[in-house]
Amino acid sequence: MVPLADRHFELEVELDSDPEVLRYITGRARSRDEVATSHSQRLALSGKVGGLGYWMAFGSDGGARGTVAPEHEDQGDFIGLMMLPPAHGPDQPDDPTVAELGYRLARHCWRRGLASEASQALLRHAFDTVGQSRVIAQTMTVNVGSQGVMKAVGMRYVRTYFPSWDDPIPGTESGEVEYEMTREMWEARLTVWGLTLTTDIARQVRQWRADDYTWRAIAAAADHQWGTESGGNQLFGSDLCLESARMLGENPEADPWN
Ligand SMILES: CC(C)(COP(=O)(O)OP(=O)(O)OC[C@H]1O[C@@H](n2cnc3c(N)ncnc32)[C@H](O)[C@@H]1OP(=O)(O)O)[C@@H](O)C(=O)NCCC(=O)NCCS
Repeated sequence: MVPLADRHFELEVELDSDPEVLRYITGRARSRDEVATSHSQRLALSGKVGGLGYWMAFGSDGGARGTVAPEHEDQGDFIGLMMLPPAHGPDQPDDPTVAELGYRLARHCWRRGLASEASQALLRHAFDTVGQSRVIAQTMTVNVGSQGVMKAVGMRYVRTYFPSWDDPIPGTESGEVEYEMTREMWEARLTVWGLTLTTDIARQVRQWRADDYTWRAIAAAADHQWGTESGGNQLFGSDLCLESARMLGENPEADPWN
């Protein structure tokens, strides 16, 4: 990923020329002039909090799985635009320690885990390099792909809200959702008793819980399956449930977790 610069303008125009990419954003393709306005706004926001801003993502072989990132953007294929500006919208806090995560990928790059991979890198940057207190992400309730990314990186659902739009697009009637990752969540995120949590692990834990496994049984099953050495510790089982629920964007107090 490289910081957005003027030389990337044509790529932004190309990205926003696909109405499918903007289906849940404007509901239609954007004109060159509209992209020019967004481009200037992005560059202006990039300077507001050091380290936050916008990045253009490039991959090898169109971002195919198993390939490594190119050394230089000229040697790679354009994947999409990744966003981590300071919170700034009307439904966002006026707090420079809060950043907003966003992503917009070229259509041929969807469903390969690329938005999640790049988002994970931006979360790490936000917390470990810039020192943010919280990262939020917002999207239309009907944009399940966008929420898929939020859940995949371990953000949690915060609220559904209903902004008023001058120019509503199909789906606005279902409102917008907000997810977050706090610094506390980031620091606790993947280390549950020495286990590096992944969505696959979280899903397996969920399945065990749905099958009525006790916390102790979950801990024992995790020891067996992933080599942890909790000795079937009940606290490990409950921590694992809590972190798995959070990673999947679910309420740890609700079924099947409670
Ligand atoms: C939303 C978007 C960034 C997702 O990018 P992506 O690289 O395809 O996402 P990933 O492959 O990392 O997928 C992450 C998770 O979401 C799921 N997902 C992604 N797109 C999905 C879709 N259209 N429907 C259902 N689930 C979807 C994936 O299966 C994956 O889930 P998993 O962890 O359970 O396997 C991409 O579709 C896009 O650029 N859309 C247009 C722009 C946009 O809407 N941006 C968000 C505006 S707020």
